[in-house]
Amino acid sequence: PSFLHDIEAILALKRERNAVILAHNYQTPEIFHCVADIVGDSLALARRAMSTEADVIVLAGVHFMAETAKLLNPQKTVLIPDLAAGCSLADSITVEDVRLMRQRIPNVPIVTYVNTSAAVKAESDICCTSGNARAVVESLGVPRVIMLPDEYLAKNVAAETDVEILAWKGHCEVHERFAAADVRELRQAHPGLVVLAHPECPPEVVAEADFSGSTAAMSDYVERQKPPRVVLLTECSMSDNVAVKHPEVEFIRPCNLCPHMKRITLANIRAALEENRHVVTIEPEIAQRARLAVERMLAV
Ligand code: 13P
Ligand code: SF4
Repeated sequence: PSFLHDIEAILALKRERNAVILAHNYQTPEIFHCVADIVGDSLALARRAMSTEADVIVLAGVHFMAETAKLLNPQKTVLIPDLAAGCSLADSITVEDVRLMRQRIPNVPIVTYVNTSAAVKAESDICCTSGNARAVVESLGVPRVIMLPDEYLAKNVAAETDVEILAWKGHCEVHERFAAADVRELRQAHPGLVVLAHPECPPEVVAEADFSGSTAAMSDYVERQKPPRVVLLTECSMSDNVAVKHPEVEFIRPCNLCPHMKRITLANIRAALEENRHVVTIEPEIAQRARLAVERMLAV
């Protein structure tokens, strides 16, 4: 089958070009398990991007992840197999929005979720991911912060900390579709079900869940607790990838697809390595300021 040819070609191209493939937990199993060198949540991908010796990084994920890898590796070639792999959160806020917010609410630090463009990161004081949002907010030692652009992540973090959090109105198009009633119905239909929810889900959903955390934290939860029956309220490939390692766990699978993550395929990863496309570039002046915000996050 053609996907086996693609896998063989990708493995050979990685050696030829001294390339690594970083894949997000939402990538399909053939990418996640067969060609990726490093897999993880956004935080792990950012950290691991920093320590690679490769000349070329292929980011199997969405555009903001490729930009973050480039920010941390200005000398390396960073490729994204499809430039249209965006993110509804990154699209929900512009540089002008952030500047206006700073003007209207001066002297309050701005924390931006990594799910934003480099230009938006450049306007902020520090970045965060779903894996470290609370720690980042609390590291600032102030009573009030602005957290952009995910309204639900901001509210979910606010529920766990004494720091006052001012939110924006961005939503993840995948996670906003889960509802608290779905969780109740699932529990009725599947006795003993353990419910894990990503913090981009609405707060009512997180309140009904047994655990909330980043994609890596959800994966670790299954690894540690080995619940007999579990549902991961997140993107569909997440359960597929975790289930491969845990045949003893029953995965209940209502899930939502991220159309942006699904733009990445074995065929376009192969083309990316063969044709050196699409090279991620960031204007140096923006990159310098955005890098600072990411580095401050990584220091927390
Ligand atoms: P994680 O950082 O938890 O992997 O989340 C990234 C993402 O895009 C979630 O929708
Ligand atoms: Fe963006 Fe949501 Fe897709 Fe993650 S799942 S990349 S937050 S649209």
